Amino acid sequence: MNKVVILNHPLIDHKMAKIRDKRTGTKEFRESVSEVGGLITYEITRDFKTKPKTIETPICEMIVHELEKQVVIVPILRAGLGMVDGIHNIIPTAKIGHIGLYRDEETLQPQVYYSKFPKDIKDSVVLVVDPMLATAGSACKAIDILKEHGATDIRYVGLVGCPEGIDRLQKEHPNVSIYLAALDTHLDENGYIVPGLGDCGDRLFGTK
Ligand code: URA
Repeated sequence: MNKVVILNHPLIDHKMAKIRDKRTGTKEFRESVSEVGGLITYEITRDFKTKPKTIETPICEMIVHELEKQVVIVPILRAGLGMVDGIHNIIPTAKIGHIGLYRDEETLQPQVYYSKFPKDIKDSVVLVVDPMLATAGSACKAIDILKEHGATDIRYVGLVGCPEGIDRLQKEHPNVSIYLAALDTHLDENGYIVPGLGDCGDRLFGTK
């Protein structure tokens, strides 16, 4: 069964305070989203397996430990892009895939318009990144597609979630752990998380 980890850390809370405040401008918002991406990464990687390797320090030979598996970061376009640099700063060897989804106006279901993943995704740890876990429609679809491509070790990474999104993601993908900086109370009738932070994509890219 998956686990749900809500990060509880003063630095993350401090940055989330900036991110949530409607007076925060695009530059500071973007920087803070990326920074929280980096801080969350410590927790996501806590149980990563490492493999031993022999090296020589300037003094003597020693056994060191490196990450065993390739890491692949997969942002869901477009808001997911906001967290990628922060995560990539912490895991610079990670490869980056992309997935773009739009909502079909008749069925209201998410449809894929773009996807590109590294070849070795089957053997990698895949971090699906989308800041807002709202209805979880996009997250579930993205994970469906990653599984179709052979990914088995998948973790969801976001900023803010709500019970509705967590329940759906847990039901549809019980083997995907969820990492969030905060858990809010509910979704409103327009699909926004309350109290949330507004439209994350618009605030990241100044398109409001
Ligand atoms: N997407 C957003 O950008 N914000 C929300 O509150 C919900 C979904």
